[in-house]
Amino acid sequence: MLIDWSDEYFIGIPRIDEQHKMFFEGVHRLHKVCVANEGEQVVLETLVFLENYVRGHFQDEVAFMREHEYPRVEEHRKLHAKFLERYLELIGEFKESGPSQGLAVRMGEMVQGWLVDHIAEADRAYAKHVMERANRQQ
Ligand SMILES: [Fe+2]
Repeated sequence: MLIDWSDEYFIGIPRIDEQHKMFFEGVHRLHKVCVANEGEQVVLETLVFLENYVRGHFQDEVAFMREHEYPRVEEHRKLHAKFLERYLELIGEFKESGPSQGLAVRMGEMVQGWLVDHIAEADRAYAKHVMERANRQQ
C-alpha cells in the first residue's frame, strides 16, 4: 500500500520539500500506471521520468549540502547512489518480465519505503545542520 504525502515529511527547506513532494507524486503515478495496465511503453516512460527526476533532485540536494558545508555529504551521496542502483535493477527487471501487479507493488514499496526512511533520517540530518549553522551565523 502506498501512503500519501503528509506534512510530517517536511524538513523545513522549501525547495527540497517541494521536490520530495514531487518525488512522492511520481511514485504514485508509477504505481497507478502499473496497476492500471496502461502498457509497457507508458510504464517504462514513467520509470525513466522518475529516474531523471530523482537524479536531478539528488544533484540539487548534494549541491545544497556543499553550499552549506555539510560534513557528511559523501556518506549521503552514497545513500543516493545505492538507491539508484536498486532502482535501475527494478527497471531491468521490468524490461525483462514486463508489467505485473507484483512488480508494481514491489516498486512502489521499495521506492516509497526508501524515500520515507531517507527523509526521516538522512535528509533531516543535513537540514538540522543547515539550520544550526544559520543560527550560529546570526
Ligand atoms: Fe537525500
